[in-house]
Amino acid sequence: MLDSIAKVNVEDFFDPSKKGAFVRAVGAAFSTSGYLRLENHGVDFSLIQAYQEQAKSILKAPLEEKLRFQVPASGGLVGYFRAPRADYDGTLKEDLDMWHVMQDDALPFFPRPSFRNVWPERSQMFQQLGNILFQEFYRTTEVILRASAEYLGYSSNHLASRVEGGLTVLRAIRYPATPLQDEQVRFDAHKDASLLTILSGGSAAGLELYQEEEKQWVTVAPQENELVIGVGDLFEAMTQGQFKSALHRVVSRSREERYSCPYFITPRADVPLSILGAKDRENESVYHFLKQRLGLLIPEYEEQLVVRNSPIAYSQTSHRN
Ligand SMILES: [Fe+2]
Repeated sequence: MLDSIAKVNVEDFFDPSKKGAFVRAVGAAFSTSGYLRLENHGVDFSLIQAYQEQAKSILKAPLEEKLRFQVPASGGLVGYFRAPRADYDGTLKEDLDMWHVMQDDALPFFPRPSFRNVWPERSQMFQQLGNILFQEFYRTTEVILRASAEYLGYSSNHLASRVEGGLTVLRAIRYPATPLQDEQVRFDAHKDASLLTILSGGSAAGLELYQEEEKQWVTVAPQENELVIGVGDLFEAMTQGQFKSALHRVVSRSREERYSCPYFITPRADVPLSILGAKDRENESVYHFLKQRLGLLIPEYEEQLVVRNSPIAYSQTSHRN
């Protein structure tokens, strides 16, 4: 079943004789199913496992301890985040524990201390591995962003330059143990709000992707040298539907806890949605999109937005591209 998902080899992007085919394969996969398997990406599988292991100790800490690391002013984009899930069999409810890491020193149009990463005292390793994994995923991301831009007819750096220092988030997520024994949906079918999402599998099986053509769910368990990359709603909007946002879900087949660390690639907040030619979205920025899509609200940014959109601010910055 997994073989039915398009697979590309990162190394091909750097081989002039294979690069064209690589770019076409990425574009074709994103234009049809909305996801692909990326092999030989170079991210150490043991790093992913070690990070998930550290996340376990952080996210299993007492709730009072975790709540100290919430950063409401960031809209939940850094630190601890608690997402209550609706009951999935009519009786049981669960709360998903998450920890968000952004690029250190990123200035995604929010140059404020409250928007920097926060780290628990409990594990320095969590911080170290989190920063390393963020950078490793970022390196992989760049190849896909470059290939996507070229496929769409833009310069190689067209997207990558706008993602650098942006709103990309590495999420550690804990699905609590469940008393249920049968197959249960743990995270309902959904599409991500991001530009792209990197999925590396979890500590337990469960990730499923929807195949539109066959009208069926496909279980995905990436191999050690594979990552699954899916298109998010933001990319679908920016390409006016040319790239398809990937529908996915998490289904539990055991009672054990599950940990995973998806990586949500998102440009800077002030990037216009029209950079890939969507003329009807010229007045919308990434922030506008996420505000509508996720309910993301960052009060201080709202203030900046008003100033930025005033005629005075535009005349002052009219030399910009
Ligand atoms: Fe998702």
